[in-house]
Amino acid sequence: MDSRCFAGGKVLLKGALFVPGAIDCGIFKEVVSNALANELSAMHFIKQRYVKRFRMELDLRRWQRPRIGLPLDYRLVGWNPLLVPHHAKVKYESFRGEIDAQVFPCLGKYEGCQKLMSEIGKKEGFVPEATWLAEYIGAGPRKAEYCGTIQAVRSHRGRANIQNIGVPPLHRGRGIGTALILAALMGLDYVGVPRVRLEVTAENAGAIQLYRRLGFRTIRTLYKTVELAPAATPR
Ligand SMILES: CC(C)(COP(=O)(O)OP(=O)(O)OC[C@H]1O[C@@H](n2cnc3c(N)ncnc32)[C@H](O)[C@@H]1OP(=O)(O)O)[C@@H](O)C(=O)NCCC(=O)NCCS
Repeated sequence: MDSRCFAGGKVLLKGALFVPGAIDCGIFKEVVSNALANELSAMHFIKQRYVKRFRMELDLRRWQRPRIGLPLDYRLVGWNPLLVPHHAKVKYESFRGEIDAQVFPCLGKYEGCQKLMSEIGKKEGFVPEATWLAEYIGAGPRKAEYCGTIQAVRSHRGRANIQNIGVPPLHRGRGIGTALILAALMGLDYVGVPRVRLEVTAENAGAIQLYRRLGFRTIRTLYKTVELAPAATPR
């Protein structure tokens, strides 16, 4: 198999991967499935892959406001620009090694998370009321540690997007993610946002389950091109 055939761009057709370069050189005329395409990526034949993502939405006008319940040894901390480095650190600890750090490489690096957080905080549509940190206070005030992060940014037509919710592995499964999302939704409701959206990688089944449980519904399927790291591409 000649790897040069796979060096061209790719076009996605209904969940499958089509490789124009392969047609050009007259060797491979079939549509290659996503799974095979990703396998080929792993074999270093292609430099990109497509990642399936869902856009989900919740209508806050029909939302039954549930109570926010947190374990006793956790609390939520509202937005303050001085907290940017803490949001960035928690984001990094939450996303490193996860699927979204491959989809958005900046999430897999502390510096990337710091840049992202300071940029989000300066955006025109940034909603401080919907931006929270979770803090673990169970080991005493001197050993308090931040352990969850969420932000929201207004988009067009009054809508807003919830972004980059993260809880580090040690603190997962205790309701922190749920509490962060509910607090963000309450903040968005407070400032009059009617609809809230988010995007999630289809492989992230746990997060999708969490969003569905809270009332988000899928409104669109998207495909994002992901560049493979240079070390994983042929020389
Ligand atoms: C998604 C995430 C924020 C959930 O945080 P959490 O504090 O564990 O969430 P909660 O305890 O409130 O809820 C747990 C629920 O989420 C699901 N879940 C999501 N990711 C999970 C994970 N990695 N481990 C365990 N449960 C997970 C569980 O199925 C559970 O559902 P259930 O309550 O219906 O049984 C956290 O797993 C995380 O930070 N993941 C990595 C970053 C990420 O992918 N963020 C989402 C980007 S769209």
